[in-house]
Amino acid sequence: MTIRPITKLGHPLLRRPAQPVDLTTINSHEFRTLVNDMIATMHASRGIGIAAPQIGVDRQLAIINAKDKPFAILNPRILKRSRRRATEEEGCLSIPGVFGQVQRHASVTVSYFDDRGIEHTMEASGLLSRVFQHEIDHLNGRLFIDRMKGIPKDRATS
Ligand code: NI
Repeated sequence: MTIRPITKLGHPLLRRPAQPVDLTTINSHEFRTLVNDMIATMHASRGIGIAAPQIGVDRQLAIINAKDKPFAILNPRILKRSRRRATEEEGCLSIPGVFGQVQRHASVTVSYFDDRGIEHTMEASGLLSRVFQHEIDHLNGRLFIDRMKGIPKDRATS
């Protein structure tokens, strides 16, 4: 496993919708390595999620680490969004030192393929719902600062 460099705000891939994963490629050595490297890179930076564009890979692939163990989501879609919202602090590995309050849907129903090509539909609430929304935003070229309320807090200087 290799820890890969994380793309930072200003990198064009962070602002572009990612390409779908071709599910016929997921058993390749290259894809397995990509998933393992993303998990290693996320753990190394203590993230609770990471999206492929954050390591410079233009694919609809992310790792979610808000449950008991990290899992990969491929080509995810949000099928349902709760009317109820929740506001919590977020940060992002691609925008180090910046944290802010972000309003999200309190729960979402998400469909995705896992890294064996099996399709899942999951209803998520709490932190899991937030991480899904944050990572799926990445795959659509959106960042949490787009949705942030108020003035960003710069933890690096406090
Ligand atoms: Ni992020």
